[in-house]
Amino acid sequence: MKLEEICAAEARLLLSTYDRSPVLFTGGEGVYIIDERGDRYLDLLSGIGVNALGYNHPAIVGTIAHQSRALIHTSNLYYHEGQAELAMRLTELTGLDRVFFTNSGTEAWEGALKLARACAGLRRSEGANIGTKFLALDQSFHGRTFGAMSTTYKAKYREPFEPVVPGVEFVRFNDVADLRAKFSSEVCAILVEAIQGEGGVRPLTQEFFTEARALASSTGALLIVDEIQSGMGRTGEWCAYQHYGIQPDITTLAKPLAGGLPLGAVLCTEEVARVMHAGMHGTTFGGGPLACAVGIAVIDTIEKEGLLAHATEVGNYFQERLRSLAARHDTIIDVRGKGLMLAAELDSADLAKLTVAEMLKRRILINCTSDTVLRFLPPYILERAHVDAAIAALDEIFTEHSAAQHAPAGGHHHG
Ligand SMILES: Cc1ncc(COP(=O)(O)O)c(C=O)c1O
Repeated sequence: MKLEEICAAEARLLLSTYDRSPVLFTGGEGVYIIDERGDRYLDLLSGIGVNALGYNHPAIVGTIAHQSRALIHTSNLYYHEGQAELAMRLTELTGLDRVFFTNSGTEAWEGALKLARACAGLRRSEGANIGTKFLALDQSFHGRTFGAMSTTYKAKYREPFEPVVPGVEFVRFNDVADLRAKFSSEVCAILVEAIQGEGGVRPLTQEFFTEARALASSTGALLIVDEIQSGMGRTGEWCAYQHYGIQPDITTLAKPLAGGLPLGAVLCTEEVARVMHAGMHGTTFGGGPLACAVGIAVIDTIEKEGLLAHATEVGNYFQERLRSLAARHDTIIDVRGKGLMLAAELDSADLAKLTVAEMLKRRILINCTSDTVLRFLPPYILERAHVDAAIAALDEIFTEHSAAQHAPAGGHHHG
């Protein structure tokens, strides 16, 4: 089918949940994704932070070919070779003790919430004074299923589906006083993203994160850190919480975990894990042989190719170039992020939208989150030359926009 036919068929046949750009992608290579005409696009979004090794990486392609011939699915009723090895690697990387594998981010987050409630229940049964409430943060995003949506800040994601899961209170972002005021023995877990993704690439302050850890520890509540967007090396550490020297009780991973195949994970301490017993939680597909094999290959490749150091180095360069762009264009009001999780916030939602469209015309993929924030989540294999190309395109777009704004209104001649 041609793009026009696909658009028409989708409009008729799919739930209208997505506002897609009219591009038809059929291939990819390295940091480039390729459309049906063979045009190459520099991908600075990597499928919303998924394609960490870019497109057509031999380690991923080779592992899929090999594992798909061996075994694709077993169910969780039996053993296969992948889960134990991937769990070994992930517990080592995160400093946590046990893993449950899922198919998506939101499902990993559901697992985390269920662990927290069950843990608090067990502790109550042992005589502890601990409630069932969750403290989440303003501008948080944790997913679209009921628990995840209920702990997600923006009303537009929750309201059409009310009533949501009860017992969630939102704390003002990075506001230590508000966190202290809302924390009590009623709270079973504090929920954070170390660096908020959909909320606009906003890092927690050290002070706020440290206080969240201390408050949770003071009552036996859990600190749960969502690393679905920021984790698996994107910020130059395996998890963004490692930049802060903070250890959570539970963390969640997904997006880049299997380099493009659906795979998520919830990881927890031994203390938290003791609450789970056979039959209490599960999934048909989660942690299948194919996704796990690729997950192991992704970690191997990140290590072999030194991609944590590379993400830090190219990310710092990217951030510097964005800062010098901001010095030339007042419309950029903030540049922030860590490693290859970066943002440039503009002073106008219209311009942010226009910029994404103009970048697409120039064959560069970025997106806009929280209305005014241009977000960059490129593959970890990005090089400085790609950054230079993106900065040149942004410079041109902002220069043209500013010239158009300052030009006299069309048709009227003064003087
Ligand atoms: C921080 C965070 N948590 C959870 C999710 C949900 O993940 P998924 O879309 O795989 O369900 C996302 C997705 O954007 C995310 O960025």
